[in-house]
Amino acid sequence: FFADTKEAGSLLVSEFIVKTLQDNYQKGQSSVLGLATGSTPLIVYKNLVTAFQNGALSTQNLTTFNLDEYLGLAANHPASYAFFMYQNLFQYLDISDERIHIPSAPPKKTDESIAEYQQLLGQTQRDIQLLGLGKNGHIAFNEPGSPATSRTRLVKLDESTRIANSRYFESPEQVPEHAITMGIADILESKINIIMAWGEGKAEAVKRAITGPISSDCPASFLQQHNKTIWFIDQKAGKML
Ligand code: GLP
Repeated sequence: FFADTKEAGSLLVSEFIVKTLQDNYQKGQSSVLGLATGSTPLIVYKNLVTAFQNGALSTQNLTTFNLDEYLGLAANHPASYAFFMYQNLFQYLDISDERIHIPSAPPKKTDESIAEYQQLLGQTQRDIQLLGLGKNGHIAFNEPGSPATSRTRLVKLDESTRIANSRYFESPEQVPEHAITMGIADILESKINIIMAWGEGKAEAVKRAITGPISSDCPASFLQQHNKTIWFIDQKAGKML
């Protein structure tokens, strides 16, 4: 979907999510939502909070799984994704901690926690997975070079990603060098993937992901192999298509 602005695109995405979740709720079924961080989904989260506050969205039957997290940042670190999710979404919803899943890797227990996350994710069918797009074509923290078969794992971040994300830290050196991320294979197992891209800075990555060859050089291109991936982009992000 092309939208004029990120506000208009985000509105379409949040309406889609609310409708999917409410349909499940009315049928007495639970919903599982995969969540993303970064600036891209911020307006969607705001809209979901508004829908919840207006009574248009119930989160009673909702379980969430986040895509990724930095290694070595505690959940109360202001740049951690756990903190981001609490600040922008969870604190406003009726959702208990047991139904919120964010990868984490406490020291000495890294392998164990990754295996646990993978197991839980594998047992759960996500209705929708939200995704943003990195300028180098990454999705979650699957950097270029990530294979289609990749699973939840510890990864080393690209220098370009660390620089792009340094705006959330006091200095670029503070950006962790490693992260835990769902793999490409995990992302492709969601029933529906919704990927959003706003702004000119994403135009080239959007073009490579949608029209380029399917290759680990541009991890988002693997979404071409998924039969229910919906792109939401604004005019600027779509200008090279
Ligand atoms: C980060 C996240 C991704 C996100 C991407 C884009 O590295 N791990 O999940 O999609 O950056 O960030 P932004 O939305 O701020 O442009």
